[in-house]
Amino acid sequence: MIKKILCIGAGYVGGPTMAVIAKHCPDIRVVVTDINAERVRAWQSGMPPIYEPGLDEILRASLGKNLSFSGDINSAIADAEMIFVSVNTPTKMFGHGAGRAADLQYWEQTARSILQHARGETIVVEKSTLPVRTAEAMERIFRSGGRQSRFEVLSNPEFMAEGSAIADLEHPDRVLIGSAATTSGQAAMQELVEIYARWVPRERILTTNVWSSELSKLTANAFLAQRVSSVNAVSAICEQTGADVLEVAKAIGSDRRIGPHFLRAGIGFGGSCFRKDILNLAYLCESAGLSEVARYWEAVLEMNEYQRQRFVQRMVVAMFNTLAGKRIAVFGVAFKANPGDTRESPAIQVCRELLAERAQVCVTDPKALESGRRDLGDAAPGLSFESDPYAAAGGAHAIALLTDWPEFGKLDWERIYAGMERPAFLFDGRNHLDPEKLYQIGFNVYSIGRPQRSRL
Ligand code: UDX
Ligand code: UDX
Repeated sequence: MIKKILCIGAGYVGGPTMAVIAKHCPDIRVVVTDINAERVRAWQSGMPPIYEPGLDEILRASLGKNLSFSGDINSAIADAEMIFVSVNTPTKMFGHGAGRAADLQYWEQTARSILQHARGETIVVEKSTLPVRTAEAMERIFRSGGRQSRFEVLSNPEFMAEGSAIADLEHPDRVLIGSAATTSGQAAMQELVEIYARWVPRERILTTNVWSSELSKLTANAFLAQRVSSVNAVSAICEQTGADVLEVAKAIGSDRRIGPHFLRAGIGFGGSCFRKDILNLAYLCESAGLSEVARYWEAVLEMNEYQRQRFVQRMVVAMFNTLAGKRIAVFGVAFKANPGDTRESPAIQVCRELLAERAQVCVTDPKALESGRRDLGDAAPGLSFESDPYAAAGGAHAIALLTDWPEFGKLDWERIYAGMERPAFLFDGRNHLDPEKLYQIGFNVYSIGRPQRSRL
């Protein structure tokens, strides 16, 4: 039985995952390390650097008992029986495969540290999303050491979504564990199964070989993203034909074979994973000589890009073919409501395109204002930030709603309308507000894939 777990990387994945493991396994000592000392301090003080509903409570329940955060990676490695690796694997921005392949430098450095400091038998669990067959590369690094330590590499991808991380970890649809078919591989896999089995029904713990596990993670995200691009493609047809994408999505989603989830049309998907994983998948296909398959998945990304451009284009046309000098209030810069994460947010791109049209862009967001400011940079002329949505909309010609924050639904829209220029436009990039109600107030309302409600 495993008694000592280490997780390398205290980010969105590593922190919450280990907090949940520590909660359900009080007899296992869980240590989490990170190269970022500030992050370590924040987690250790019980004030995590990320916001997830329910995280603070379970973190505090185990901190100081069987859960701790440390900057001393080397001695933590030496002490661990099982090591989860959840360092980030961004898209490579240089050299061969730039802009598409995964940048594995952190991951490889981590593998080398493990090789150098591990003692005895160690199970290494890859939690980071990695290209297929990376576990094999990790094993080769381990074998190259000629040291006495023995390693077993498992793949255990994470399927949690931001904002529902704790609920997803507590009640996962499935836990996936990939291992080698060897006796020692199966034994290592069994150790990990026993950990999850403490709170996950056994029939939800799927075991497979390492490569199938790695590929499942990439393709699960590609499938989810593909649904968003598909419904967004439908939204474009709706706008041209007078059909309503909400009605269409409801009709398609009622088919049990299709299902109702991930059919919300909008300005496209963002977040740290979808784009990166599809680029990765396409690169993988290309490397395997499957260029048609690569093109197929790349089309999902192209549609995502197109949707944003189409949104801005529709604004330009509706607002008499020019945005130059007009004040546009951008409501929401986060990639989705909760948490305030702006990584790969489509709103960032929309803001850039609005600025390119020489609009005066004022961004407001209940939680992500600071991170939006970092991503967009203060310097752009015509760009400002405002925490009060009423102030952001003051004197604006249009509002572009780009994140589905529940807060936006509760605003006093009559008051907002009263403070705006005429004619007042509202472009709802998430189909988040009731267009009829806003139209009655006086707005000219443009939703995604729905008939426009305009007096012009
Ligand atoms: C995760 C997965 O690991 C990634 O593969 C997946 O595609 C997205 O989700 P995430 O937890 O969101 O990444 O990344 P992030 O929040 O950036 O956390 C990674 C942490 O690893 C950071 O805190 C970083 O400081 C740390 N890190 C990075 C190390 O401790 N060591 C390194 O060598 C590199
Ligand atoms: C995703 C996966 O859901 C998760 O399983 C994986 O582990 C990590 O990547 P996340 O990026 O946190 O999680 O967010 P998710 O809720 O999947 O949303 C991604 C993006 O798609 C958001 O920008 C969201 O606004 C958009 N989206 C989602 C739509 O535009 N329409 C939808 O119907 C659903």
